[in-house]
Amino acid sequence: MTISKKIKHFMEQGSWIRKMFEEGEALKQKVGRENIYDLSLGNPVISPPKEFYAKLRELASAPIDGMHRYMPNSGYPETRAAVANQLKVETGLNFNSSHLVMTIGAGGALNVVMKTILDTEDEIIIFAPYFVEYIFYADNHNAKCKVVNSDSKFIPKLDELKNAITAKTKMVLICSPGNPTGVIYTPETLSAISKILSEKEKELGTEITLVSDEPYRKIIFDNIKYPHIFDYHHKSIVATSHSKDLSIPGERIGYIAVNPNYENNKEIIDGLTFCNRTLGFVNAPALMQRIIISLQNIAIDVSDYERKRNFLYEELTNIGYSVVKPDGAFYMFPKSPISDEIPFVEELKDQRVLVVPGTGFGTPGHFRIAYCVEDSVLQNSIDGFKKAFEKYKPF
Ligand SMILES: Cc1ncc(COP(=O)(O)O)c(C=O)c1O
Repeated sequence: MTISKKIKHFMEQGSWIRKMFEEGEALKQKVGRENIYDLSLGNPVISPPKEFYAKLRELASAPIDGMHRYMPNSGYPETRAAVANQLKVETGLNFNSSHLVMTIGAGGALNVVMKTILDTEDEIIIFAPYFVEYIFYADNHNAKCKVVNSDSKFIPKLDELKNAITAKTKMVLICSPGNPTGVIYTPETLSAISKILSEKEKELGTEITLVSDEPYRKIIFDNIKYPHIFDYHHKSIVATSHSKDLSIPGERIGYIAVNPNYENNKEIIDGLTFCNRTLGFVNAPALMQRIIISLQNIAIDVSDYERKRNFLYEELTNIGYSVVKPDGAFYMFPKSPISDEIPFVEELKDQRVLVVPGTGFGTPGHFRIAYCVEDSVLQNSIDGFKKAFEKYKPF
């Protein structure tokens, strides 16, 4: 008995982060954990906010009758109402609990959305650099991802988008702030994407849903006001989670929100609820649903990430790296000083700094830094970044 050829291939394709993780572990065993500066994983070291623990203690000390039982597959009505209320405040749109489905993180949310919307061989347009799991999620539902490139500032190339849309295109998937870039799409970009989708729908007689994957929505810097996709395109769905904004990725709590102005939203929500059940998720974790009711307006201290971003951006640009300054999230995606970033990433590893090659995000020539680590790790990594750059710097 062996695993399928397809899964073997996917495991190779999606192995960059794991590869760095495994090699990093081996190195840590060899030279000591404290001597390796691991910037390869988006697993935040920041603790959840105190309000999270307060709520956890409250529920543990005064359990609600039936709180561990099955529930409606879309989640507790009061949890969905709390999320809807927050979205109403943020977008001004008329959200209520019927527009929400609680999910197993953003990953679960995306799978449920794809399962609900896509037929076999349908296409999803994604933008490089992309979160590599999109490709595997699409395959789960017999669909395919088509990649459209971004410009040097990591903004989608709109002409390429126009040309990529065919009668098979059912979904366009964006991620803002982006993993691996931290870039937020501006209102102008969102309006332009929306216009293209509407024109193409008319031309091809099809329907295209704009899906926004936004687990980093609340981690944004420089007082930027987050442009909600709901305000720019009515056939839109958000898939997100509290993994990063409450720093609880292990707790697997997220949601899907369907634009109240999406004509078919009742049918879509019914489909999403059905797929949440039949994909085997059944419902999102009960305890976490109770906890997040009162945490919709709470997040980890974003200024902590902003400070780390400022430090790293300044240090790297001083060394000579070319970096697009991230607007949010906790990733940076600098250019490698040589076009093939793999030997450069190896050199960084020799300098005890672990990052992920851009090839793993469909964009060679770059590498991803996850700076959701202790300040001391970031500080200690700078010397390695300097030495590696000196060795390979362009003349
Ligand atoms: C862009 C993006 N989408 C989705 C996910 C999955 O998030 P979750 O842990 O909530 O499933 C991640 C996790 O790192 C991510 O970076």
